[in-house]
Amino acid sequence: MSERRILVTSALPYANGHIHIGHLVEYIQTDIWVRFQKLRGHRCVFMCADDTHGTAIMIRARQEGRTEEAVIADMREAHVRDFSGFDIAFDNYGSTNSEENRELCHEIWGALRKADVVVERTSERLYDPEFQTFLADRFVKGTCPKCGTADQHGDGCEVCLTQYAPTDLINPKSTLSGATPVPRESTQLFVQIEGLHEFLDQWTQTSGALQSETANYLKNHFLNEPLRDWDVSRPAKYFGFEIPDSPGNFWYVWFDAPIGYIASTAEWCQKNGEKLDDWWKNPATEVHHFIGKDITYFHTLFWPAMLKTAGFNLPKKVHIHGFLTVDGKKMSKRDGTFISAATYLKHLDPSYLRYYYASKQGTRLDDLDLNLDDFQKKIDSDLVGKVVNIASRCAKLLAGQTLAPTYPDDGGLFAQGAAASERIAELYEACDYNAAMREIVELANRANEYIDRTQPWMVRKDPARQEEVRAICSIGLNLFRQIVVYLAPVLPRLAQQTGELLGTPVTTWADAQTPLVDKTVHEYQHMMKRVEPKKVSAMVDESKPAEPQVQKMAVAVESAEQQAAEAVREGEALVADSGDQLAAEPLVADHCSIDDLMKADLRVARVIEAKHVEGADKLLQLTLSLGGDVTRNVFAGIKKAYKPEDMIGQLVICCANLKPRQMKFGLSEGMVLAVGPGGSDVFLLRADSGAKPGMRVH
Ligand code: MSP
Ligand code: ZN
Repeated sequence: MSERRILVTSALPYANGHIHIGHLVEYIQTDIWVRFQKLRGHRCVFMCADDTHGTAIMIRARQEGRTEEAVIADMREAHVRDFSGFDIAFDNYGSTNSEENRELCHEIWGALRKADVVVERTSERLYDPEFQTFLADRFVKGTCPKCGTADQHGDGCEVCLTQYAPTDLINPKSTLSGATPVPRESTQLFVQIEGLHEFLDQWTQTSGALQSETANYLKNHFLNEPLRDWDVSRPAKYFGFEIPDSPGNFWYVWFDAPIGYIASTAEWCQKNGEKLDDWWKNPATEVHHFIGKDITYFHTLFWPAMLKTAGFNLPKKVHIHGFLTVDGKKMSKRDGTFISAATYLKHLDPSYLRYYYASKQGTRLDDLDLNLDDFQKKIDSDLVGKVVNIASRCAKLLAGQTLAPTYPDDGGLFAQGAAASERIAELYEACDYNAAMREIVELANRANEYIDRTQPWMVRKDPARQEEVRAICSIGLNLFRQIVVYLAPVLPRLAQQTGELLGTPVTTWADAQTPLVDKTVHEYQHMMKRVEPKKVSAMVDESKPAEPQVQKMAVAVESAEQQAAEAVREGEALVADSGDQLAAEPLVADHCSIDDLMKADLRVARVIEAKHVEGADKLLQLTLSLGGDVTRNVFAGIKKAYKPEDMIGQLVICCANLKPRQMKFGLSEGMVLAVGPGGSDVFLLRADSGAKPGMRVH
């Protein structure tokens, strides 16, 4: 087996959120693969970084009143801590906001310019006049121009699967405000990849880089027609790198994000005296990307096109996985299944999750379900009941003594296990961890049968048969160690503990070929506990929205958050127009505490007077009674929806402690709560009859 040089990456997590158990599907999968390659003696390095640029970070920074740099520095610390808590061992963890990345972006951009594939175009984009922002495709909905289905997103129709531009939609509406978006000019830079169509056909369909499901998907959805130009620029203000030859324009986050893979490698090279070209420009190096299915498009069309144009290595493989569901459903805050890495670690052993995910991971793109009951059963049965049980039964009987001086006759068990080595290795290589785990558990079954049959704890009672006990336990411990070698990519801690128990670390895959003899067996230390169901429930409870009173709100917040998250998953939320008009509102803020919520003094109020305002075509002037003789003068933008005479006597909800604001028409001393995009689509919130003016909302 000749040594391979392998560079492995996981997708770069967004710096605008914490790592959760969904992300971990990927990072654990990749880490297992890397550890496997290292155990096999290959030169393998694992690169990752935070993906820091884009609108989402700007919005977060703005909400938190901090600089983007401060936000990403904190998040980086949290990410690094979470990953190390799960034994995910990157060789380098960089950032896309680094000098290395900027330089590499310049280099690759230069190559694209030289190849003459960058074009500048003034185009019409849809602009939301209400929110004063250009709209990313996902934020426009309308009727499909091809098949006429209503309510389709701006980037394509879910029914007939046609891809089109949002400007092609019939009767488009902004999903942010409900307003009809208007086309507006903006200058943008595009990369044309159609010139590489033939190359991409070949690379995606016949190079072996992709799973067949992915190859087919690309063939049927993208490669069957001319490839669309890729819009790589965003107008200021944008958190990212400014495009050197197009001042005022920034590279779209998805341009610099994958380049972050190379930048992280560059950083590692500098620290370790390595040459970047050996890893990214030498075809002898294999590049392997691990990603989720949602980001297929970027990694299998644009990215290879960029690499090809700029003369970097193409990925040998892009390993794509499905999404995590918990108990058969999408992770959800309300159900307590949106579990962060940090919350998991407070309650449970990371090895459980590593093993559980491995046992569920196949080679296809299917989603992977974490069933919490099954999780407990599987860990208890496979890991505690089968694997660790071998060690605990044998090591206790041999503690302080040595293994037999020559490996005893075990009827061929160890040899059988040794012979499984290549088969199991192939399964790891193919990321078919599920099948690998089954093979390994089968070995554990055989070892347990052997111990059940030979009953060393009975033999031990006969002082004349102590050598027999040593022989049985030497066999048991060697079978155990063989299993641990095969599990080492998944369970590095167990491998470590086994090394300590037998005074010999597990360092290579080949350790499964030779039994240990004569080694001292150390005192048995607990290796893995059963899963405590109450800790699982505690973890789920902690992941639920905190206060029962705010649960209902949390539901609403969740769906809004999902929309925001989806936007961010798109790689981009909104395109900011001008700095101040950045559409921060549609993206829901971070959780607020009940105290925060209570800062707003929301009261039931009765409208005692309502009238038109001279010169204002949207406003009504309301006088609200808050009980007793407390009143408030409020200007409300509801004129197009409500007649003054209909308002008198209504019970509305008013924010009573809003800082008074001097308006052209007078002092506004509060605000009435309403929903809807505005204009004639405004709907006031009202209290049911029986509520009294002045009652507090809680
Ligand atoms: N920043 C981009 C990737 C840029 S790579 C040049 C991104 N970040 S992410 O934080 O949203 O996701 C990181 C990885 O985690 C992606 O591969 C994504 O598919 C994966 N997952 C995120 N949520 C997931 C689940 N719920 N389930 C499985 N994988 C998931 O995308
Ligand atoms: Zn359609």
